[in-house]
Amino acid sequence: MKRVDDFRLRFGKKEYVPIVVGGMGVDISTAELALEAARLGGIGHISDAMVPTVSDRRFQTKFVKEKLQQYKYNVANPDKSKVLFDLGCLAEATRLHVGRTMEAKRGEGLIFINCMEKLTMNAPRETLRVRLSAALDAGIDGITLSAGLHLGSLALIEDHPRFRDAKLGIIVSSLRALQLFLRKNARLNRLPDYIVVEGPLAGGHLGCGMDWASYDLATIVAEIRDWLCAEQLDIPLIPAGGIFTGSDAVSFLEQGAAAVQVATRFTVTRECGLPEKVKQEYFKANEDDIEVNTISPTGYPMRMLKNSPAIGAGIRPNCEAYGYLLDSNGSCAYIVAYNREVAAHPHAKKISVMDKTCLCTHMRNFDCWTCGHYTYRLKDTTRRLPDGSYQILTAEHVFRDYQFSTDQKIALPE
Ligand SMILES: Cc1cc2nc3c(=O)[nH]c(=O)nc-3n(C[C@H](O)[C@H](O)[C@H](O)COP(=O)(O)O)c2cc1C
Repeated sequence: MKRVDDFRLRFGKKEYVPIVVGGMGVDISTAELALEAARLGGIGHISDAMVPTVSDRRFQTKFVKEKLQQYKYNVANPDKSKVLFDLGCLAEATRLHVGRTMEAKRGEGLIFINCMEKLTMNAPRETLRVRLSAALDAGIDGITLSAGLHLGSLALIEDHPRFRDAKLGIIVSSLRALQLFLRKNARLNRLPDYIVVEGPLAGGHLGCGMDWASYDLATIVAEIRDWLCAEQLDIPLIPAGGIFTGSDAVSFLEQGAAAVQVATRFTVTRECGLPEKVKQEYFKANEDDIEVNTISPTGYPMRMLKNSPAIGAGIRPNCEAYGYLLDSNGSCAYIVAYNREVAAHPHAKKISVMDKTCLCTHMRNFDCWTCGHYTYRLKDTTRRLPDGSYQILTAEHVFRDYQFSTDQKIALPE
């Protein structure tokens, strides 16, 4: 009976425990969580989602306050096209977040950063270039391109001195998306160092549609693996989404995966950035407390707990402070939905917006409880305490359980 520890992820001559803790924005996959994964010989992710906000919280900078101050005059204006990010501040926040994390790194593993293309920030190309370059400047081991097709992202950093030495990977949910990515980037003569194949059971945004239940991770992985083989492309494949036990991971590794990417089981660890009371909500959840909905302004379906405060909240858009989802025209689907509701209820003190949510504000405040499909199984991974709450785990405990368990077993904490 094999265990995850019988396998290794290889990048060149280096070997790693084949467990990747996936990126979870906004600062749900904290530096502490990523550092634990690296210390234990695997790969951890931080996320650059809303990085100025994260920097304010971590390092007492004032990026958000200063941006709001600058654009305060625009708060009541539905046109947000003038609310631009200061690229210097964005670079500084990224360098702080990444730099301090890398300085603290111990052990043999790696730390990557998750960069979502859908964070278009009112100037998609300029802001993404700064995010990627600043992360490389600050010494990140690798960048995982996510939430988008990233057809032009690699070209934005092709002149960076670390373009060929840092590990660069992409998350895809279909062979078609991968083929498109490779075709568009062929000119750069630089293949991705790894491909995360994310299936329909993952947390966060989903790369498939509302018909997610008709897809199956193992089938997508096999299709991509066979195609890469036929094309003689040797790129490590990393399946993600619903890999809940060490045995689940082993079955992918035996089918040729180089590693697995996991996240949900780490949402209830001490190192995870979710507030303690939200971690208890994750533990408590039953299967029918979880839904995939379309309230994210990104246009991608998103999985979350049905009792997330973000659902149905009708707060005023907060783009002067945040504005991460503003497209190149300065608009966001939440602003449209919000303005429609305000116009329909002109005298209401409080309105509710059901079809979209102000994702920036709610992710910032940990009020959008995005989660993986198997969140309802988290209660089986710990003990119930005398007061009825669930015992929070450590990242080390969960990591080692993935690494060493067999027979679909899950080790309970001491
Ligand atoms: C709370 C949470 C937040 C997430 N946020 C992101 C994100 O910001 N970017 C991203 O690419 N994936 C995100 N994901 C997806 C994970 O990185 C990972 O690929 C996936 O959840 C793995 O499946 P599992 O949760 O079933 O283990 C998130 C997942 C969770 C559970």
